[in-house]
Amino acid sequence: MKLSEPVLTKRIPTAPFGDPKQRHTVGFDEYVKTGGYQALEKALSMEPTAVVNTVKDAIVRGRGGAGFPAGLKWSFLAPIDGGRRYLAINCDEAEPGTFKDRLLCDFDPHQVLEGIAIACYACQLDTAYFFIRGEYHHQARVMQKAIEEAYAGGIFGKQGLLKGKSKFAVDCILHRSAGAYICGEETGLLEAIEGKRGWPRIKPPFPAVKGLFGRPTIVNNVETLAAAAHVVERGADWWKGIGTQSRHPGGMPSFGPKLMGVSGHVNRPGVYEAPLGVKLSELVNDYCGGMRNGKKFKGAIAGGVSMGVLGADQFDAPMDYDIGRDYQVLGLGTACPTVFDEDTDMVAVARNIARFFKNESCGQCTPCREGSGWMLKSLLRIERGDGTSADLDLLLEVAGSMGLTPGTTICGLADGNNWAVRTIVNKFRGEFEARVKPKFVPVYVTAGR
Ligand SMILES: Cc1cc2nc3c(=O)[nH]c(=O)nc-3n(C[C@H](O)[C@H](O)[C@H](O)COP(=O)(O)O)c2cc1C
Ligand code: SF4
Repeated sequence: MKLSEPVLTKRIPTAPFGDPKQRHTVGFDEYVKTGGYQALEKALSMEPTAVVNTVKDAIVRGRGGAGFPAGLKWSFLAPIDGGRRYLAINCDEAEPGTFKDRLLCDFDPHQVLEGIAIACYACQLDTAYFFIRGEYHHQARVMQKAIEEAYAGGIFGKQGLLKGKSKFAVDCILHRSAGAYICGEETGLLEAIEGKRGWPRIKPPFPAVKGLFGRPTIVNNVETLAAAAHVVERGADWWKGIGTQSRHPGGMPSFGPKLMGVSGHVNRPGVYEAPLGVKLSELVNDYCGGMRNGKKFKGAIAGGVSMGVLGADQFDAPMDYDIGRDYQVLGLGTACPTVFDEDTDMVAVARNIARFFKNESCGQCTPCREGSGWMLKSLLRIERGDGTSADLDLLLEVAGSMGLTPGTTICGLADGNNWAVRTIVNKFRGEFEARVKPKFVPVYVTAGR
C-alpha cells in the first residue's frame, strides 16, 4: 500500500518519492513559489463554517495520539462572544519513539503555519500559541524564523490574514516548553502556556469551552493542522480516497496519508509518509529495508510507548485507528512504531518504559504517582532475578488499577504506563516467568500428631 504522490512530504524528499539527502528548510519565498498559502487563499474565499464543515466531512482524525476528528472538535467551540479565543498547537512530541512533527518543523515550517492560519480563520481564533518541546532547540529557531517570515509576508498580523484579504487578524506566538512529557497532555500544555506547573486539569470543562486563560481554545497536533490545509485545498473527497474504512460496522474510518516514524531494529529508520492502513510488515520491509542484520521480527511498540506492544504474530497489523480494537493495544497513537528483533530482552523493555513513566508522572493522582513507582520496583526485581511470581501478579494488578479507563486518574499518562507494561507482560509472559522464582506456599509437616 503506497501513496500515488507525497502529500505532507511534498517539499520534504522522502523515500520512495525522493532522496532524504536533498532535504532543506523551505523558506517563505520557496513555499509560496511552490503553491504554498493557496489553501489559505481558498479558505478565505469560503465562510468560516464552510471550512469547518469541509474538515468535518473529511473526518481528519487527530494525529497527536487520540485520533479524535478535528472538524468535530472545531464544531464544539463555545459561541463567539467578543472575547479572546485561542489555538494551542501541540508540538511537544515527547513520546519516546515519536519524531514526525519534528520533520515538518525542520523542513517545511510554512506548511504548518498555513494549517494554523486556516484553523484560526475557520474557528475564528485570534491568537495561536505554538507550544514546542523544550529539547527542540533547532526546530524552535526554525519555527520562530518562519513565524517572522509569515508576519513579514502578511500572513499573520494586524492587517488581517493574507495581507488583509480577510479582516480577521491572527497573532502567532512560539512558546518553548521547559521539557516535561506531561506538558504534551492538552490541559497540562495549557497550564504551561499560562506560566504554571504543567499539571493536567480535570475535564470537563474541555478546552473548547474553557481553555487557555479560561477562554475557548482548540488544541491540535502539528500534523493534524498541516493535514487540514491539504483537505481545504483539495477537498474532502480527495482525502477520503486515501486510507481505509473501518473493519467494524459503524466504526470511524482511517482516512488520509500519515507520517510514520519508524525506529528500532530496522535497516533504514526514519519518517515515512504512507496511507493509513499500511501493514506494519510492509512499512518495515518495503519502506525501511527490512529487519536489521536479517534478524526475525519479535514485536513492536504500536505508535509511541503509551500504546503498548504488538507481538511476534501481529507483524501484519494494519496501521490504522482500528489497531487497538483488533490487536490488543491501546490504539494507533502517533503511528510511530519502534521495532524489536528476536534478540530483544522484553523484560528490559518493560522496565525501561516503566522508568520513563515513573519519572514523568506529574504526581497529582495517587494511583499514577505511587503505582508507577511500584511497577518500576517490581520490574527491577524481576529483571535482577530477585522477583517471585507474586511480583508478576502484583505488577499486573497495579497496572490494571491506574488510568482513565479504570477511572482513577486525571489524565491518560497512567493508561500509557498501564497498557505498555500489561501488553508486554501478556504477550511475552514466558520471558517474565523464566526470570521469576516460583512463590511457594509453605507446608508445615507436623509429624507424629
Ligand atoms: C501524557 C500525554 C502526552 C501527550 N503528548 C502529546 C504530544 O506530545 N503531542 C500531541 O500532539 N499530543 C499529545 N497528547 C495528546 C493531547 O492530549 C491531545 O489529545 C492532542 O494534542 C490533540 O490534538 P489532535 O486532536 O490534533 O491529535 C498527549 C496526551 C497525553 C495523555
Ligand atoms: S495520571 Fe499521572 S500524569 Fe496524569 S494527572 Fe494524574 S498523576 Fe499526573
